[in-house]
Amino acid sequence: AAAEKGGHDYFMLKEIQEQPTAVADTLLGHFTGGKIVLDEQRLSDQELRDVDKVFVVACGSAYHSGLLAKYAIEHWTRLPVEVELASEFRYRDPVLDRSTLVVAISQSGETADTLEAVRHAKEQKARVLAVCNTNGAQIPREADAVLYTRAGPEIGVASTKAFLAQVTANFLVGLALAQARGTKYPDEVAREYADLEAMPALVERVLESVEPVRALARELASSPTVLFLGRHVGYPVALEGALKLKELAYMHAEGFAAGELKHGPIALIEDGLPVIVVMPSPKGRAVLHSKLLSNIREIQARGARTVVIAEEGDEAVRPFADHLIEIPAAPTLFQPLLSTVPLQVFAAEVAQTRGYDVDKPRNLAKSVTVE
Ligand code: G6P
Repeated sequence: AAAEKGGHDYFMLKEIQEQPTAVADTLLGHFTGGKIVLDEQRLSDQELRDVDKVFVVACGSAYHSGLLAKYAIEHWTRLPVEVELASEFRYRDPVLDRSTLVVAISQSGETADTLEAVRHAKEQKARVLAVCNTNGAQIPREADAVLYTRAGPEIGVASTKAFLAQVTANFLVGLALAQARGTKYPDEVAREYADLEAMPALVERVLESVEPVRALARELASSPTVLFLGRHVGYPVALEGALKLKELAYMHAEGFAAGELKHGPIALIEDGLPVIVVMPSPKGRAVLHSKLLSNIREIQARGARTVVIAEEGDEAVRPFADHLIEIPAAPTLFQPLLSTVPLQVFAAEVAQTRGYDVDKPRNLAKSVTVE
């Protein structure tokens, strides 16, 4: 069993280490002949061009990957994108027709809520594109187009490598749409793809430098609560960081959009409360960076213990970070592939310190096949 886990105590810890490969394998073969290609496409190029609205539906971590997809798809394609929890989607009577594309994201491809969302979309004549980690699962079988994530089997109940692979695959979906619609020139698509190809090595660098995150996790393992703040693509990362901590460590955790701080969450700040902040790049998003800086200053002044994930060389943030976790510089949209990783490591280490089995968190199932 130890060999199966590659020398780790838990599959999840091995799966965290496998993330550079999961991202690289998901990219592999999807850019050929100067074009992004899906794995299966039962839609004509014209049908793809005619899409005028996108819904993303998913559950759990896959939903967080969908939130990230919105930033890329809207930016690259100028298509409006709504991201919905699959369990809410079909009961809301969403407005769908044949020019709507529903992107269903599911590691297992069998999640009941996501499958039913797909069926509802198809009844309304919408087109469905599945992002899935399991060949031939029900959701890709019922979809009009499929992009498989190549994370390999994920045993840990809480998603790690499958999540990073989903985030990666969603970028490919965005680029495929941009290419079909002509909102990006072929050389721009090629450049984005090249930037994506550089990400696995950067994920590897994050993994090589997470030891201090483990030490910090052991220090904070008895906190009653941890808050997570982020903005722009850092916001879904904050949500994912909080979800991991809830799932694995049974610790109360909430992710907030940093801009909402003054509208409520700041009332929660008290002496010693750990707050993990995902900083945008000071170069890529200078305006947001300075806004986050003042957020951190505010919460630190109210006694919060600030843990800051920031780009290497971000000197401005140093005075406000009680603990600084540095990640390599990356294009803004792709930063979540890096900033998520220390949060996974943090949650796993808090959970282990508290004596929990991180592969099999209580009450949770790997795949929820009942509504
Ligand atoms: C469960 C798992 C999560 C996963 C979610 C969606 O809650 O514990 O890790 O993100 O289901 O699963 P799916 O297979 O649809 O991606």
